[in-house]
Amino acid sequence: MIKQWMKITLIGAGVYNILWGSWVILFPMMAFELSGADKPTYPQVWQCVGMIVAVYGLGYLIASTSPLKHWPIILVGFLGKVLGPLGFAHSFIQGVFPLKFGWNIVFNDFIWWIPFGYILFEIWKSNKCPLGEPIAITEEQFSNFDKIKRASFINSLSGFKSSNLIGTTNSKGQTNLSIVSSVFHLGASPALIGFIIRPDTVRRDTLENIKETKEFTINHVNKDIIKESHQTSARYAKDISEFKACGLNEQYLGSFKAPFVLNSRIKMAVELVRVEKLPENGVHLIIGSIKTVHLPSGVMKDDGHVEIQRAGTICVSGLDTYLETSPLGRLSYAKPNKGPVWI
Ligand SMILES: Cc1cc2nc3c(=O)[nH]c(=O)nc-3n(C[C@H](O)[C@H](O)[C@H](O)COP(=O)(O)O)c2cc1C
Repeated sequence: MIKQWMKITLIGAGVYNILWGSWVILFPMMAFELSGADKPTYPQVWQCVGMIVAVYGLGYLIASTSPLKHWPIILVGFLGKVLGPLGFAHSFIQGVFPLKFGWNIVFNDFIWWIPFGYILFEIWKSNKCPLGEPIAITEEQFSNFDKIKRASFINSLSGFKSSNLIGTTNSKGQTNLSIVSSVFHLGASPALIGFIIRPDTVRRDTLENIKETKEFTINHVNKDIIKESHQTSARYAKDISEFKACGLNEQYLGSFKAPFVLNSRIKMAVELVRVEKLPENGVHLIIGSIKTVHLPSGVMKDDGHVEIQRAGTICVSGLDTYLETSPLGRLSYAKPNKGPVWI
């Protein structure tokens, strides 16, 4: 629900605040000179207002990255934009400020009331939306959903899924990239990893390349490459590389032939162990052996745990909803005689 207009509004408000705040800090007397108001005895207090407005600008820029998460910044900003004019009105009635000084209020406050108010309303709506009564949807019912609705429904049920890009090449060096949400851990010793490829009722480039070259890369999708990654799911012609078509750069590491995604921060070189076509529905189970893991050193803890969220790794729900995560904490290893504790 992070709508583009929310981001644009907050970026606009952020840039405006930083510019206005800097103006006040650098030229504290100008607003008074222009409006004919009495000059303050302590311009430092007015400069302090400029500083607070400017750092709020920084807050709005941060909020623009995820308005839903950073709503308190927006709320506090909105309150300031409502209470500020009230304070001005009070001073105006008392004859402290000329009306001309109110131009500050128009651009600092009034013009943001509707967009800020609407953003907060949308966030409130999305948080307060009633869940509704529990219902049961039987196999008979969801079988009657149209194809797309059914796929979307069933695809959402396995929970939040990882979001990875599978990089492959064929023996002629034609590269391919495809987003998948079915990567799963198969075992740590040997280090096996797997994923699912849809039935080969149509051409499946990833499948063909893996069968041909016996290797592939798995690249975590992060916040910075979501759109490009999603676009790799489009059915491009065989001779078109999704890397180029979707704006992602190839990277070659070590002697591995399959391409990595340059802008992915956690990525693995994987050798094919087995492809199994499942008789139940014709999907292909790809089992691979992890050969090399490339990741930023700071995200791996001493005990081996990888803080993937710190590398910006995101997850996906269904086939189109991308989410970022925020950890609730790590729990101690579960033992029958000891309850878990946060570590
Ligand atoms: C979020 C998302 C997850 C997907 N997960 C898978 C998956 O796990 N397996 C699969 O075969 N296709 C999956 N797809 C569809 C493929 O990306 C798509 O079929 C792609 O065109 C396959 O490319 P290829 O023919 O080059 O291998 C997914 C698509 C999206 C948008």
